[in-house]
Amino acid sequence: MNICVLGTGYVGLVTGVVLANQGHYVICVDQNADKVKSLSAGKPCIYEPGLEPLMNKALKSHTIRFTQDLAHGVKSSDIIFICVGTPQNEDGSVDMTQYQEVLTDVIHALNEPKIIVNKSTVPVGTAKWAQEYIKQIRPGMPCEVVSNPEFLQEGRALQNTLHPDRIIIGAKSLNAIMAMTKVYDKLEAPIEVCSVESAELIKYASNSFLATKISFVNWLAQMSEYYGADVTEVTKGMGSDHRIGHEFLNAGIGYGGSCFPKDVSAAIHMSDSAFIDCGILKSVRDINRYMPKLYMSLIEEELCGLQGRNITVWGLSFKPGTDDTRDSQAIKFINLLLERDANVTAYDPVATLETGLIKQSKNIYDSADGADAICLLTEWPEFMNTDTSDIFEQMRNPVFLDARNVMDSEKLKQQGWTYLSLGRLH
Ligand code: UGA
Repeated sequence: MNICVLGTGYVGLVTGVVLANQGHYVICVDQNADKVKSLSAGKPCIYEPGLEPLMNKALKSHTIRFTQDLAHGVKSSDIIFICVGTPQNEDGSVDMTQYQEVLTDVIHALNEPKIIVNKSTVPVGTAKWAQEYIKQIRPGMPCEVVSNPEFLQEGRALQNTLHPDRIIIGAKSLNAIMAMTKVYDKLEAPIEVCSVESAELIKYASNSFLATKISFVNWLAQMSEYYGADVTEVTKGMGSDHRIGHEFLNAGIGYGGSCFPKDVSAAIHMSDSAFIDCGILKSVRDINRYMPKLYMSLIEEELCGLQGRNITVWGLSFKPGTDDTRDSQAIKFINLLLERDANVTAYDPVATLETGLIKQSKNIYDSADGADAICLLTEWPEFMNTDTSDIFEQMRNPVFLDARNVMDSEKLKQQGWTYLSLGRLH
């Protein structure tokens, strides 16, 4: 099939590359000339394991192309995937500017009726609105707007896209359902067909539910700390009930990234707009906002204040396997340290920050030079594999804050470290 993908961020680029390797002809459109140039030369603008070779394979076989020419992409394709960013407004609602602009451009470029697919995360009701909008601008151009939400995780995007748990298709007509089934016919994954509104809500429901699991265990970590339980034992015991499962039960400094915080806020906003009480998600958000403060207070108490203290943070990205620092809890934690006049040095295997306010180390051992504490904020495997007895020698004060519960605490204690965590006995 001929497919046009609008937007080459995480979702657009991964979708385009995967479809281009499955026998489709894909044109990826982006308005950024530098990005198009770099992508055409085989260089992805994001760090995603396995993406570069797969993208180059498609470029070599001419099944993928990158261009700024939206009209050309639309005219040459049967199906148009909208994958542009839908960031958050200050009031928590979704900023639909890019989506509306791109949809308007698509409508003007249409040469015949096509299927328009919303892959961007958009509020429930968007597909219905878009359908009406097309009718208003091009009454003689009956296009169907389908909702096909994306569930890829950064750092595991290819794996998630090639082996999804399910493919959700919210569509009305048999024609659209058949076309979408054909798009994915090489993937061995169950296809669930539903109404467009259900598909749109499935996306928010899934992300909000996963965020709820995380805030729930972060509440449990506080309970464990107070009542002398161990949160890792509690979550292991809970997760062994197959109805609960072990995934997304890792307590720690909380969730970040470009999806969970934004989608929880959008779900709250949609709920408030419908006058439906949303206390549950407001608590999820509040617990998550509180976690960096809670971890900061552990270190502040241990060091009897943070002013002038040398604090080393390990991890800047919102999770391992990505260079993405958007809405990272690590940044919130660093800001709290800076507010208290601490000297911050950061080390991350991949991510960097554009700021002069902290020192960024290129080497994990150098990062600990003269430090009063190390705070592990992102669970990169490198941190668990580092020889902490060597690091110990660099420290002015051997305090280790493990904000992801991933270190061997007994080993650290034997080496002489003061090990700090929340809700862990061992
Ligand atoms: C999330 C969803 O998992 C994807 O299914 C979805 O497609 C994507 O959002 C999206 O909407 O585009 P992602 O943001 O890449 O994916 O990251 P996750 O792996 O879900 O992690 C999110 C955050 O939760 C991270 O900060 C991570 O450290 C934190 N987390 C995760 C925990 O604190 N504890 C856990 O047990 C799991």
